[in-house]
Amino acid sequence: MPHNKPMHPTAEGLSVGHSRLSAAGDWELLALHVGSPVNCMITVRQERLEDIDAVRHVNEQAFGRPQEAALVDLLRVQAQPFVSLVAVEDEQVVGHIFFSPVKIEGSNCVGRAMGLAPMGILPNYQRRGIGSLLVREGLLACQRTGFDVVVVLGHPDYYPRFGFMVASEEGLRCEYEVPDEAFMVAELRPGALSGIEGLVKYDEAFRAV
Ligand SMILES: CC(C)(COP(=O)(O)OP(=O)(O)OC[C@H]1O[C@@H](n2cnc3c(N)ncnc32)[C@H](O)[C@@H]1OP(=O)(O)O)[C@@H](O)C(=O)NCCC(=O)NCCS
Repeated sequence: MPHNKPMHPTAEGLSVGHSRLSAAGDWELLALHVGSPVNCMITVRQERLEDIDAVRHVNEQAFGRPQEAALVDLLRVQAQPFVSLVAVEDEQVVGHIFFSPVKIEGSNCVGRAMGLAPMGILPNYQRRGIGSLLVREGLLACQRTGFDVVVVLGHPDYYPRFGFMVASEEGLRCEYEVPDEAFMVAELRPGALSGIEGLVKYDEAFRAV
């Protein structure tokens, strides 16, 4: 018997959907997408072993190069615990998102912060709300895994809609030289950022990208 929980806000273009606990014990988000060009049913669920080749393909296609796909392969081995979700249509993996733990130097928040990276959607499936589904489900999955905050290095017009704020305004700095507004942080529970500040360090696997 699936355990239903209330639907959280979804991307525009989604008409119905709900989260449930699948028979396999994974959280799944089912959503009927009515955006162009065709109607499609997207399922978001935890990545499984048999998805690994398809996830590699999605990241290679989304980024147009192999580095992000190789990064995910490396992070699965050396970054624990991680959150890896796939978006599936008709049993085809069309999108993927990955979260791995980050360290915050100068802060006593060991094991509380995740980094969102990478995320990729097959080119033909972009701009249909699938990335938004993955971000929202990913943040919930990180929360369920026991994390308090998530950082992301990404487009400043995209991530604020999910609750991300400019990290420097919250006392967090990025180890890479990036535009200030591109490094963002989201709280997974109110007040989670209080007492957390310092330099955010990603897993060593990111140095190769
Ligand atoms: C970025 C990405 C993951 C977004 O996923 P998506 O499913 O296309 O996004 P959604 O449909 O949920 O959201 C679409 C909105 O996101 C924004 N958006 C999407 N891609 C964007 C980009 N590259 N730059 C800025 N905004 C972007 C737009 O505002 C868009 O709104 P619009 O349809 O009104 O123009 C996807 O486009 C992708 O895989 N890109 C290539 C890989 C990449 O850059 N990954 C992110 C870095 S880790």
